[in-house]
Amino acid sequence: MGKIISVANQKGGVGKTTTSINLGACFGVLEYKTLLVDADPQANATSGLGIEPTTVKRGTYEALLGETDIQSSIVATSSPNLDLLPARIDLVGAEIELIGQEEREHQLKRALATVKDQYDFIIIDCSPSLGLITINSLVASDAVLVPVQCEYFALEGLGKLLNTIKIVQSGLNEALDVEGILLTMYDTRLRLANQVVDEVRTHFQELVLKTIIHRNTRLGEAPSFGESIIMHDASSKGSVNYLNLAREILQRNQMTQLSEEEKVIPLSQ
Ligand SMILES: Nc1ncnc2c1ncn2[C@@H]1O[C@H](COP(=O)(O)OP(=O)(O)OP(=O)(O)O)[C@@H](O)[C@H]1O
Ligand SMILES: [Mg+2]
Repeated sequence: MGKIISVANQKGGVGKTTTSINLGACFGVLEYKTLLVDADPQANATSGLGIEPTTVKRGTYEALLGETDIQSSIVATSSPNLDLLPARIDLVGAEIELIGQEEREHQLKRALATVKDQYDFIIIDCSPSLGLITINSLVASDAVLVPVQCEYFALEGLGKLLNTIKIVQSGLNEALDVEGILLTMYDTRLRLANQVVDEVRTHFQELVLKTIIHRNTRLGEAPSFGESIIMHDASSKGSVNYLNLAREILQRNQMTQLSEEEKVIPLSQ
């Protein structure tokens, strides 16, 4: 039975798509069968995995509106054990079309229920908004992973996201858990980055994951090759960071027995 994790933060450009693609690819490399759902009309997860969004015939839009069986919309990617439910730009239209539907917040959950058993993980890359598609993602999910960029105003908007999560928990999906807050784009050269890490850890304590994703040019360029970081440069710091993240989440979910050496070592700051 797959665990469904939404990667969400309504702040733009904090590393949601980079995390969705590369966490998914790392689960795949560790032999956990994973489905990545592109729930963002920008379709960055789709193009970042080498699929041109304008060529997508069936994807998240059709799944949300119940137009086709989701199985026929899922495609394999160049990363092992990583499948994709792709998106096109017109996914933005679903935001409006869903309004008139019954059970409008439950449409993605309904669609994913039919494939959940085939995967160990389903990761949903959310858009930088808290609209109906993101609500559908949170309702469909077992947990939400929140990337936070090590930058000025890192905590901006986080209160609003946590409030939305509470609203979803109190009515639409009581089982929704917070998988963790993930610090991203950490730059060792910036003193500010350490201040942000301290501030976020003081504020959110054990909710903050031990793994920190460093700023790494290989991570930034991999999508332009249509590849996950593992396929692009397996020995890069980005690969090491995202493999550590995958292992930490597996440990938190007690899905793996790791040897002492394999246990997540918090990266030095
Ligand atoms: N650790 C990193 N090191 C270097 N570049 C990164 C890193 N993480 C993300 N980036 C780059 O930063 C930009 C924003 O990242 P990304 O697209 O993952 O954010 P996002 O939260 O999905 O954005 P949006 O809110 O628009 O969906 C992208 O160009 C991406 O390649
Ligand atoms: Mg994105």
